[in-house]
Amino acid sequence: MTDSEAVSVTDYHDRTKHRFDAYARGPQTIDWEAQPDSFRRFEGAPLQTLPLLADELSLPFAALFDAAPVAPLPLTMERVAQLLEISLALSAWKQFGAARWSLRCNPSSGNLHPTEAYLVSRGIAGLVDGVHHYRADVHGLELRCAFTSAQQNIEPLLLLGLSSVHWREAWKYGERAFRYCQHDVGHALAGVSYAAAVLGWQVQPLFEVGDDALAHLLGLDRTGEFVTDEGEHPDLLLAILPDKRATDHLDGLALVRSLQASLEQGSWAGQANVLDRRHFYRWPVIDAVTQASHKPDLDAQADTLPLQKLPPPILSLCTEPAARLFRQRRSAQAFDGITGIEATDFFRLLDHLLPRTDIAPWDTLPGPPRVHLVLFVHRVRGLAPGLYAFPRSEQGQTLLRARLRQEFSWSAVATAPDHLPLFQLIAARTERTASRLSCHQDIAGASAFSLGMLAEFDSHIQDTPWRYRELFWEAGVLGQVLYLEAEACGLRGTGIGCYFDDAVHEMLGITDHSLQSLYHFTIGGPVMDARLVSLPPYERR
Ligand SMILES: Cc1cc2nc3c(=O)[nH]c(=O)nc-3n(C[C@H](O)[C@H](O)[C@H](O)COP(=O)(O)O)c2cc1C
Repeated sequence: MTDSEAVSVTDYHDRTKHRFDAYARGPQTIDWEAQPDSFRRFEGAPLQTLPLLADELSLPFAALFDAAPVAPLPLTMERVAQLLEISLALSAWKQFGAARWSLRCNPSSGNLHPTEAYLVSRGIAGLVDGVHHYRADVHGLELRCAFTSAQQNIEPLLLLGLSSVHWREAWKYGERAFRYCQHDVGHALAGVSYAAAVLGWQVQPLFEVGDDALAHLLGLDRTGEFVTDEGEHPDLLLAILPDKRATDHLDGLALVRSLQASLEQGSWAGQANVLDRRHFYRWPVIDAVTQASHKPDLDAQADTLPLQKLPPPILSLCTEPAARLFRQRRSAQAFDGITGIEATDFFRLLDHLLPRTDIAPWDTLPGPPRVHLVLFVHRVRGLAPGLYAFPRSEQGQTLLRARLRQEFSWSAVATAPDHLPLFQLIAARTERTASRLSCHQDIAGASAFSLGMLAEFDSHIQDTPWRYRELFWEAGVLGQVLYLEAEACGLRGTGIGCYFDDAVHEMLGITDHSLQSLYHFTIGGPVMDARLVSLPPYERR
């Protein structure tokens, strides 16, 4: 790894900042009729339609925080179908006049959905051994590679790989799109982890598997089978383990090596569909940052540091089935500017953002948290409006105290549970500031609270530039938790990718790259658009 890659990544980050006087470079005009197909299909690959069984899952959302473990369900095709149905599947169709669009369990910037998912399965009843591509539009699996060497009495294996089609986001957002693709990976990761927890399963991210090895495993390096400029970039491989007690970390590289012969001797099928007939603009900086943040194979868990000790999570009061909550998640389009949140609910929500690796979705991220929050508190009953800090680790707190404005008061919130690192920085009404900083979007000010996510930037990018992507994944995971916790409180959230980066830094007193704002979020009482008609996700089935 050379310094120049770290420089390239930092340059990309800086040039894709939105500023008050200029947004990051993007297309001058957008032809909405020509939006890239948001569904990847592999023409010629056998399709297995999966059953729709999510309604059978009755485990309450609150049970995910309970000390009593969820009894693991057997690893069968039906359960895998449920895993996908409550994490990455369609959750509804919306209609307004003649326009119709689908929504998914996982959110996506601009609803463009650059994230694709693959399964590698072996020895699972009802699934062919091989590499499958998940099709959210039909809730089915396309068999990209059928393994030929049938082995007897083999340990069942389920891997889930994520990849991104950068073009889908770049079509609308231009140069900043690479960041949004990474957020979406984070949301998808958390979605899969939550879904696995409902089935009593555990997720182990195999961070040691580098980009090339993952591309090879998922067939993404079969470039002849993809349209030029519409390839998929490998992101992360997860092992899905039906036994929660399996604490030994699998060696991802050894696992991938053990599949090598099956991949080579297997029979591959399918040609990726054309997503966009006309690539009107080109964004070479996305290719450059993709290359600069390319991840090599790593030593398994080489950098995993122990987490600080935390008490058990504050129990959730949400008795709604988790599987239903995941599918009802939506982004609020507008907030009423009135609805608030009780301080106890607010504290519980923050508590659930602390990393406890035995609780979903914190099994998806390595080591201590690298992303911390600054909160714009507008309407939290029992808490004075103002700007607050919520560093998610002791190291983060030290960094924030050193780098944020020295005049901030850092008054610990006395009413918060002792373990919650929540500090008031200034008492003030911050609705207008929050909206102004979030590209003048009212949703950041008319909510109960909104927030910015500050990532420890330089310290991770300098020697390991690929961590640029991981920082966004962590922000996306936080986003998914916030979306679901908002639903669990009867509120609604919205991810905010549009904000003026350096204006946020300036307000906080950050003058270097030690900390950088990577994502914003807002939660409050939504205003529903009664003109929209909601339809079931798989009406024809
Ligand atoms: C990374 C990310 C950034 C987003 N940024 C914004 C934003 O700046 N403003 C906004 O109104 N919505 C934003 N959204 C919400 C998306 O528009 C929304 O997720 C998408 O339309 C799909 O709708 P759903 O979340 O209801 O499924 C963002 C979502 C994500 C995941």
